Amino acid sequence: IPPPSLYYSPFPTGQQVPLQTKNESWKFPKDFWYGVAGAAYQIEGAVKAEGRGPSTWDVLTHRVANYVVTNETGDVADNNYYQYKEDIARIAALGVNTYSFSISWSRIQPFGTGPVNEQALAHYDDVIDTCLEYNIIPMVTLYHWDTPLFLQNSYGGWLDSKIVDDFTEYARIVFNRYHSKVQYWFTVNEPIVFCGFYPLPKNYFKKTDIPDIQQKYYCGHNVLLAHSAAYHIGKSLNSSLSISVKHNGGYKIPRTNSSEDAIAVQRAWDFNEAWFSDPLFLTGDYPKYLKEYLDTFLDPFTDEQRAQINGTSDIYAHDAYTSDIIMAPDSGIDACTKNESHPLFPSCYNTTKLYANDYWALGPAGDPGTPWLVKATDWVPAFLHYMQDTWKPRGGVAITEFGISEPFEALKTSLPTIVIDPIRSKYYVDYLEAILMALSEGVDVVGTLAWSIYDNLEWSSGYGVKFGIQYVNLTTQERFFKASAFEYVNMFNVYLEK
Ligand code: NOJ
Repeated sequence: IPPPSLYYSPFPTGQQVPLQTKNESWKFPKDFWYGVAGAAYQIEGAVKAEGRGPSTWDVLTHRVANYVVTNETGDVADNNYYQYKEDIARIAALGVNTYSFSISWSRIQPFGTGPVNEQALAHYDDVIDTCLEYNIIPMVTLYHWDTPLFLQNSYGGWLDSKIVDDFTEYARIVFNRYHSKVQYWFTVNEPIVFCGFYPLPKNYFKKTDIPDIQQKYYCGHNVLLAHSAAYHIGKSLNSSLSISVKHNGGYKIPRTNSSEDAIAVQRAWDFNEAWFSDPLFLTGDYPKYLKEYLDTFLDPFTDEQRAQINGTSDIYAHDAYTSDIIMAPDSGIDACTKNESHPLFPSCYNTTKLYANDYWALGPAGDPGTPWLVKATDWVPAFLHYMQDTWKPRGGVAITEFGISEPFEALKTSLPTIVIDPIRSKYYVDYLEAILMALSEGVDVVGTLAWSIYDNLEWSSGYGVKFGIQYVNLTTQERFFKASAFEYVNMFNVYLEK
């Protein structure tokens, strides 16, 4: 099996571009934003403070046994709700220029609809003002997976079109408050992932008649409508805002140059990234293979809805952690069956993780093995070209999350060993070199955000899977920079245009 890495191929043109070697003239442009990211439920804690209402994740962590491997919760997490000033001061001291965080919907509106909680707004006022005082660019995500419980229980959350109006109202409240202070906005985080949470565990949430395997597509449908409605509200308040969705997924490398593998790769894009990116950037509608194979799952959009959706994303913002090798299924490329349950699609395309190397990390038990396939330079430039060429974002391409959980990091017990994280350091250095490479080839990359500001609740993997560039002692809530934090920022000290 030949490694896919000697040349990167900006599929589907087939053109093979030789990898550049490190070049001293590489530069990040002056206005590049480089920072760190976190999300409300993963870092804030304080789940009962200052009028916060419950969210779906309070139920998933507290009531559903083993939904989180360790039954850990976000009740305290990194205590960021109380330590945000220190947290922002630390990242300013580190020398990055951007902090990306999410606002908790159920703090702003404890029921997800109706009354607005002024205490929560006062809190986020101060988070944003503190960033501005430190010259840190604040970036706000409106929804990072914590659905107000009332909305889940009264109508099924993202499964019901009622969420469109509720989300829009919430977005209006937040845009109204911050449109003059915050320029960069992300409406929803990784819809492929949170729509994939459906069906939610039975017996804990409102029952629904929608068949399990169709639920994620109902969710996606409402996400596109809710996002685009919110986008128009934000723009009407301040047309210079940058508003986008945070996409996610691995770069898809065809296993061979065969036409079957090329089709498999296109299906893999269409069933994943393009499910949201094509409507937002290209057509207002779903991509070809999604429509072809999932027709009975997908309500068609009306002409009016297509017009509402199309063009409502400024940046192509992607959480790009890794790559996947894609190939035609064993049963042949024509065996693809209609209306199969994603994510397996066994008859439509296959994916493999053959190329273990420098970053190969078998996560601790419970982590499905983090597929850090090939060196970042082998796929990141190709991916950046692909995003720019395919979706042609007017505001450029951004890597809104990237990072790695080191294998067995949770087993380290002494601080001096915890803060030395060579795999993560190497990942960041290689990845940023790959971005420099793509910049020099003309890709308009506008920024990067390291995931994460510090170790936090890695959703169903709990606190044992760590992505932080800082370690947090969860007993004392003390923070400590890991070596990777300095390696990360050093790349900008060296390569940022002066
Ligand atoms: C994507 C998500 O946005 C974030 O919440 C998660 O912790 C990281 N990736 C790492 O898995």
